[in-house]
Amino acid sequence: MSSDITPTNKPVKTVGLHVGDAAPGCRKVDPILIADGVKRTFGGLTAVDVEHVEIPRGAITALIGPNGAGKTTFFNLLTGFDKPDSGTWSFNGTSLAHVPAFKVARMGLIRTFQLTKALALLSVMDNMKLGATGQLGENIFRALLPFLWRKQDEDIEAKALELLARFKLDAKKDDYAASLSGGQRKLLEMARALMSDPKLVMLDEPMAGVNPALTQSLLDHVLGLKAEGMTVLFVEHDMHMVRHIADWVIVMAEGRVVAEGDPRTVMEDQAVIDAYLGAHHDTDLGQTDTGHVEALKELIDDEQ
Ligand SMILES: Nc1ncnc2c1ncn2[C@@H]1O[C@H](COP(=O)(O)OP(=O)(O)O)[C@@H](O)[C@H]1O
Ligand SMILES: [Mg+2]
Repeated sequence: MSSDITPTNKPVKTVGLHVGDAAPGCRKVDPILIADGVKRTFGGLTAVDVEHVEIPRGAITALIGPNGAGKTTFFNLLTGFDKPDSGTWSFNGTSLAHVPAFKVARMGLIRTFQLTKALALLSVMDNMKLGATGQLGENIFRALLPFLWRKQDEDIEAKALELLARFKLDAKKDDYAASLSGGQRKLLEMARALMSDPKLVMLDEPMAGVNPALTQSLLDHVLGLKAEGMTVLFVEHDMHMVRHIADWVIVMAEGRVVAEGDPRTVMEDQAVIDAYLGAHHDTDLGQTDTGHVEALKELIDDEQ
């Protein structure tokens, strides 16, 4: 018997959420979602080219990266709202390739949708009812009908009221969603997602357009989802949010995962800084590249 440990039989160390080194594509102790070779091109542009990524269960993961990195496209692919050129991915061990969006939602994988013009013309309560169908984002009016006969209207309404109260929107239930403030819209988007009892909630820029006064409330709500046992994956430019609530950070640039790790380590990663510095056309949300770099520096300083 030899006590030699060769690289092939060396035990891989488990550190918190991940197994082995925190590198792009690293394995997780308990992944809820696993994507392999997911690629999406638009004409000659490769928007998403994710070799391998795993999302840890029961944790809050931030997906960051410059504008155009492919974050939203990746969200759309994972939730069945867009189809990749190639690749496989699974949720809770079940393959989701070719599964339509409404079925993905029923399985417990929900992404939030921005309050579009059409949704803004519905009342806050009707927006919540739509969330119960899990078909949001396809054809909302077609989606509105099946729910009427498929589920008990009263149950749905009671549940909607409970959630609206939790998000302090109950007094607004009969108002047009269009009348809500930016922050209240974000709360409505989150409340609506909870109508279908998701296991994994995907939030696309939950802080965009939110008044600083509502920031803490939003953060608390996201932490609340985790406390209830949900897994959260969010895209966000707001580094304050990433720093304060993310357990894990995945960085995308030009469609690929370029870094992964705990928030503190990732923010010191040269590849991350390069990814931000490399984006010269980032004007979304009025934030400039300088803004991102400053935010990163601030984050690093803050953690020291
Ligand atoms: N429907 C589409 N048609 C053509 N190009 C698209 C489409 N959706 C996204 N893109 C392009 O794919 C790239 C990734 O976009 P996106 O996923 O929105 O990035 P992010 O959310 O990280 O800002 C961008 O270059 C964008 O212009
Ligand atoms: Mg986006």
